[in-house]
This record gives sequence, structure tokens and C-alpha cells, in this order.
Amino acid sequence: MTLETALIRKDVGGGGSLIMSSQAYAIPPIAAGQCQVWWATTTAVPPGLVRLLDAGERERLSRLYREEDRALFLMAHALTRIVLSAHLEMDPRAIRFSNICRYCGAQHGKPQIDPPSALDFSISHSGQRAVVAVAPGAIVGVDVECVTPLWDDSALLSMMLSNSEKLIVDGFQGRARDEALFRYWTRKEAILKATGHGLAVSPASITVSSPCQAPALLVWTAEMPGEAAFLYDLDAGPGHVASLATLDAELNISEHHANDILAKS
Ligand SMILES: CC(C)(COP(=O)(O)OP(=O)(O)OC[C@H]1O[C@@H](n2cnc3c(N)ncnc32)[C@H](O)[C@@H]1OP(=O)(O)O)[C@@H](O)C(=O)NCCC(=O)NCCS
Ligand SMILES: [Zn+2]
Repeated sequence: MTLETALIRKDVGGGGSLIMSSQAYAIPPIAAGQCQVWWATTTAVPPGLVRLLDAGERERLSRLYREEDRALFLMAHALTRIVLSAHLEMDPRAIRFSNICRYCGAQHGKPQIDPPSALDFSISHSGQRAVVAVAPGAIVGVDVECVTPLWDDSALLSMMLSNSEKLIVDGFQGRARDEALFRYWTRKEAILKATGHGLAVSPASITVSSPCQAPALLVWTAEMPGEAAFLYDLDAGPGHVASLATLDAELNISEHHANDILAKS
């Protein structure tokens, strides 16, 4: 569906009447087997986006100290609501989320639409990028990282890479080494975000293909036996790397830029 709404009124539960904005959201329709990846950059973050967030999101936003972090959080969450609202055909402000962990029941799990929907999504933000991936009927995880030269921390490297992966990374020098590390990182974190484990599972305990090879999960950790995963590298633009994982079947991925949509929102 392309949402080119002229002021649509929608009644929501609880008796309130919310008004969907009149902007033209150029969000193409999505079908099973497809995944849309929506990118935004922090070059200009319209402050009015805050009106799309719910009370919990606004509270989290208010607790962020750095302006860059506030911009990323605001962009990521407003973008998520706008993209989901187009596919769910509902007011972006009326969408509710839950984050119950499917492993232990605590509130640190993969965010999901509440009540449950066939549409899955995943959010990531880093550096000057916010990204949201959406897919109907498939579980997805996305991760973007700003490439910075901070990888001489041996404890961090051991948490992230197996010994064989460390040897591969040591074959790169300088900026290429940083990019290789972050490629490993995003491939692994995308998988762990799709499963909902996050960094509760050591990324070093799963093995993915080397940065010069096509993205693939090679070995699962014993904590997650039997799950299939498909990996994709995304185009995050200069200075950033990003990857996407899905747990179900291969997906047809399309990447889109959302700055214009956010500017009109
Ligand atoms: C998931 C996790 C790796 C995200 O890491 P990050 O480096 O901060 O950053 P990203 O920007 O890539 O992703 C952040 C987004 O991931 C999503 N997210 C949070 N927890 C998640 C989880 N368990 N699984 C998948 N996605 C998650 C949220 O949308 C979050 O956005 P928000 O913080 O703006 O709300 C990290 O939050 C984590 O490890 N959480 C702990 C999970 C946990 O305790 N699991 C225990 C299982 S028993
Ligand atoms: Zn848990």
C-alpha cells in the first residue's frame, strides 16, 4: 500500500479518535517473502517527530543525555511507527509494543507489535544511522554500527570472535581491520537480535562467514540448536556497516531512504 492520505480519521480502542497525518508517506506495499529496510540519517531530525512516540518512549528519550543519542532514538522510533503504520493501516501513535523475552519472560526481549501481528520488525541505531527492518511472516534482526577504531580491547575481541575469526581479522590492517571487525559484529548481532537473545549470548560462541565471503551463519552455539538463519549485508553508507538476519526462509530485501518521509512527518 502506498499511503497517500489526506487526513484520515481512525477510531482506536478506548474511545479516542486519533488523526493520521496528511503527509504522503511513500511506503510501498510489502508481501510475504519480502523485507523492507528503512534508513534514516541524523543530518536533520525534525523535533516534531516526538509527538509520534508513546509515553514510555518519551520517558526513555528524556533520559538520554547526549544530543546525538536523543536524535538517533527519536529517529529510530518515529521511523518504526511510520513504517509499521503504513503496513498495518493504523495511526502510528496507536501502535503498541511488548518486549517479553521468549526464553525467560522478562522485559528485555525482542520488541514486538502488541497484540501479536504477522509483521515482524527490528530496530538498530549507531553513529549517524537509524534503521528499521520489517517483514511479514518472518522473524528479522538488524544491526548497524558506526566503524570506529576501538578494537584493541582484547576482552571485547574475545567476547566477540572465536580464535579462528581473530586470526582472519589479524590478516587485515588499519581501516580494513576495523571494517572486518564490525562486519563480524553486525552479522552476529543481527542473528542474536532476530532470536531475541541479544548479547546475553556471547557472539564468540557462534561462527559466521569471514567478511570477504558471502554472509552466512556457519555454526550455532549450543544454546540455540536447530534454528535456521539467513544473513545479508546491507548498504549503510560511508563509515557504517550493517547486516540483517532472518530465522525463517530467504527473503527478498529492498533498502529505502526515509529522510524525506521523516521531514514531512
Ligand atoms: C539486543 C541488544 C544486543 C541491542 O544492542 P545495542 O547495541 O544497544 O543496539 P542496537 O541499536 O543495534 O539495537 C537496539 C534496539 O534493539 C532492540 N532490542 C532490544 N532488546 C532486544 C532483544 N532482546 N532482541 C532483539 N532486539 C532487541 C530494541 O528495538 C532496541 O532499540 P531501543 O533501545 O531504541 O529501544 C542489547 O539490547 C541486548 O543485548 N539486550 C539484552 C537482551 C537480553 O538480556 N537477553 C536475555 C535473554 S534471556
Ligand atoms: Zn530473557
